[in-house]
Amino acid sequence: MAIRNIREIGDEVLNKKCKEVKEVTKRTKELIDDMFDTMYEACGVGLAAPQVGILKRIAVIDTTGEDPILLINPRIIETSGEQTGQEACLSVPGKSGVVTRPNYVKVAAFNEHMEPIEVEGTELLARALCHEIAHLDGQLYVELVEGELMDAEPYDPEDEEEE
Ligand code: NI
Repeated sequence: MAIRNIREIGDEVLNKKCKEVKEVTKRTKELIDDMFDTMYEACGVGLAAPQVGILKRIAVIDTTGEDPILLINPRIIETSGEQTGQEACLSVPGKSGVVTRPNYVKVAAFNEHMEPIEVEGTELLARALCHEIAHLDGQLYVELVEGELMDAEPYDPEDEEEE
């Protein structure tokens, strides 16, 4: 288990299409463990393999801190509704932007044993599913932002007192 270096916007690995995973080897399992560790360390809700420089169709998500989801070769098979809200990415540090996504998403993928699974989610989980799967096709949310990309500084109560 190890924390891996998160690639940032401008690194061309983030714009490449990832390859399907054919088998989960010992190295793949290490990658998956490291991806979870790296996501939790960075306080993210999702991380895709290209963000740690690996062009494989693997993503991890945990929107609550208690529901780790591993997706291998995920694809969106159903969507409905719409949500518009703030989105951010560990590869675009300190920024956020408004993106419209489906409010419900169902994904077909494989687990670590390469058994087929389905994952469905609404709201934040639906947003995370769309965001992470887009990473696997080399797409960053910044391409979808409505209006300007904003600075997303951590909340500091002193900021409000100064106003
Ligand atoms: Ni991201």
